[in-house]
Amino acid sequence: MTTAGTLYGIGVGPGDPDLITVKAVKVLSRVGHIFASCSTKNTYSLALNIVRSHLNGAGLEHLPFPMTRNPEVLAAAWEENARRVLEVLRRGEDAAFVTLGDPLTYSTFGYLLKTLKRLDPAVRVVTIPGITSYHAAAALAQIPLSEGEESINVVSGALGSARLREVIDRTDNLVLLKTYRHFDDIYRALEELDLLDCAVCVSRCGLEGETVVDDVRSLKGKALPYLSLIIIKKKGKGC
Ligand SMILES: C[S@@+](CC[C@H](N)C(=O)[O-])C[C@H]1O[C@@H](n2cnc3c(N)ncnc32)[C@H](O)[C@@H]1O
Repeated sequence: MTTAGTLYGIGVGPGDPDLITVKAVKVLSRVGHIFASCSTKNTYSLALNIVRSHLNGAGLEHLPFPMTRNPEVLAAAWEENARRVLEVLRRGEDAAFVTLGDPLTYSTFGYLLKTLKRLDPAVRVVTIPGITSYHAAAALAQIPLSEGEESINVVSGALGSARLREVIDRTDNLVLLKTYRHFDDIYRALEELDLLDCAVCVSRCGLEGETVVDDVRSLKGKALPYLSLIIIKKKGKGC
């Protein structure tokens, strides 16, 4: 069945409501329905908070996203969420799905997009890119992410230091997202690999409580805020 409305997957940037594209603001001010993912435990959505000042009376709806690695539970939740989005699009309405940073970079939007296309290959989706957390963090810390012939890798710290250890020998620069849960393990890896002096940790970029920590040694034994990332420059910062 062909859907009539278009879904806009919108990256709203990492926190500062001014770090959102003009295209995103135009769409947000005219669509009638805005979706955002939330956990199954509450309906808080940072992405929605970021765009609130750009809205024009749109209806807001949370799509619950369970915090689990169980693939069956996740697939069932996304099927339900995608069906709900299709319901709105099939009424002929355009809708938006807002998400933190860029929608195609470690984002719930990726799951939604794949599920929508599977359920309705003719679904109309437009993705509006957003400024990623690490681009905003690099700007804040004034760190060039890569220069000349250098390479850069972006990895997840959700499994601790595993991904960092996998790629560090093959890259000049590395961005580690999702650092908060296993920061102790990540810290140990940075120490072992002699990278502590090459790292900068940015937390809550563009949000209340924003910090840039150049001296990562000062974070030993501490818990990081949920929104924290680490930029490692093997050839920079005196390494
Ligand atoms: C699920 S990923 C989302 C990434 C996002 N789509 C992007 O383009 O940056 C969540 C991780 O992004 C990073 N992150 C997102 N927003 C951030 C912010 N304002 N400050 C620091 N790190 C942030 C953190 O590492 C966090 O654990």
